[in-house]
Amino acid sequence: MLAPLGARARDWEGPAIFVEGVHKSFGEVHALSGIDLVVERGRVLGLLGPNGAGKTTAVKILTTLLAPDRGRALVEGRDVVRSPAAVREVIGLAGQATAVQEELTGRENLEIMGRLYHLDRDTRVRRAGELLERFGLVEAADRPTKGYSGGMLRRLDLALSLVSLPSVLFLDEPTTGLDPRSRNGMWQVIRELVSGGTTLLLTTQYLEEADELASEIVVIDHGLVIAAGTARELKSRVGGDVVEFQVVERARLQDATGAVRELSDAEPLVDRETATVTLRVGDRGSHALVETVRRLDALGIHTEGLGMRHPSLDDVFLSLTGHGAEEAQPGASRRRGAERLRAQE
Ligand SMILES: Nc1ncnc2c1ncn2[C@@H]1O[C@H](COP(=O)(O)OP(=O)(O)OP(=O)(O)O)[C@@H](O)[C@H]1O
Ligand SMILES: [Mg+2]
Repeated sequence: MLAPLGARARDWEGPAIFVEGVHKSFGEVHALSGIDLVVERGRVLGLLGPNGAGKTTAVKILTTLLAPDRGRALVEGRDVVRSPAAVREVIGLAGQATAVQEELTGRENLEIMGRLYHLDRDTRVRRAGELLERFGLVEAADRPTKGYSGGMLRRLDLALSLVSLPSVLFLDEPTTGLDPRSRNGMWQVIRELVSGGTTLLLTTQYLEEADELASEIVVIDHGLVIAAGTARELKSRVGGDVVEFQVVERARLQDATGAVRELSDAEPLVDRETATVTLRVGDRGSHALVETVRRLDALGIHTEGLGMRHPSLDDVFLSLTGHGAEEAQPGASRRRGAERLRAQE
């Protein structure tokens, strides 16, 4: 029997994470310009934002790796500036950079982490064994981690952050670079953790990840909170259906855009990289879809992936920030769009 992946008992009744007016600059760069966050215990906050938005800076401040210039940040009621050691007692962190030591085996990595937390020998051996099992790493446990795949390293990283049974866990982009199967496995483990009572702050650029895991979402851009709410609340702000298609012959992208422009009150959104046109069509989705097919057909323009969908978090992000969530990963948004359409079939 595996012990449940539960959090330790807590002595604090207030919110698990409380951030008020936190500022942080690096020279001229204002990484955080006054952010507020509240995460009730046992909840999952998805912190979303494009590259450079300030996500990692916020995580570093909350995990005592960086001091804020101004403002207040408390974890389980413990002040990150005044009582950093007390904060470190209750948190776990899996950062963007791996904490795995590659010359050691997975088991050794976990046992050494246990020693850092002053666990006695029996406890650290037992906990390492439980975590290896939980994360599907039993077979690879006694091999040096330099031979692990990216997905295995990510899982080990998450396991390392759990050695101390933290009650508040910070995961900075936990599934970046994982294939869909590994990502699903990771989501499963994260859900188990949360059902065991762990409070989680998760940063991600994958909006469907926030949609899957987070009870609340905070969107930050340029160091400021620009929106907050549940996924459903954020989506309802954008409102309306979306018709989307990809133009096969890129040379005809402009013709295609011109042909469908008047079906929407808003200017069509054109992604030149993927030759994708996205139209916001309010509640006239079916009509707009039929009309799009008719008009493109009349001009002999071939498309791929033509379809209608309800607004996604991607659309929310785009309308809030004026740019996609994954600008650094061209094509990713398009692929996810296709996945989503398939998922709805
Ligand atoms: N140690 C540092 N020195 C100088 N500038 C920094 C430092 N750390 C972060 N910054 C800057 O602060 C801003 C916010 O960075 P941060 O790493 O918090 O962004 P992020 O949202 O985590 O981005 P990503 O999605 O790329 O991980 C960026 O402009 C970054 O260049
Ligand atoms: Mg980051």
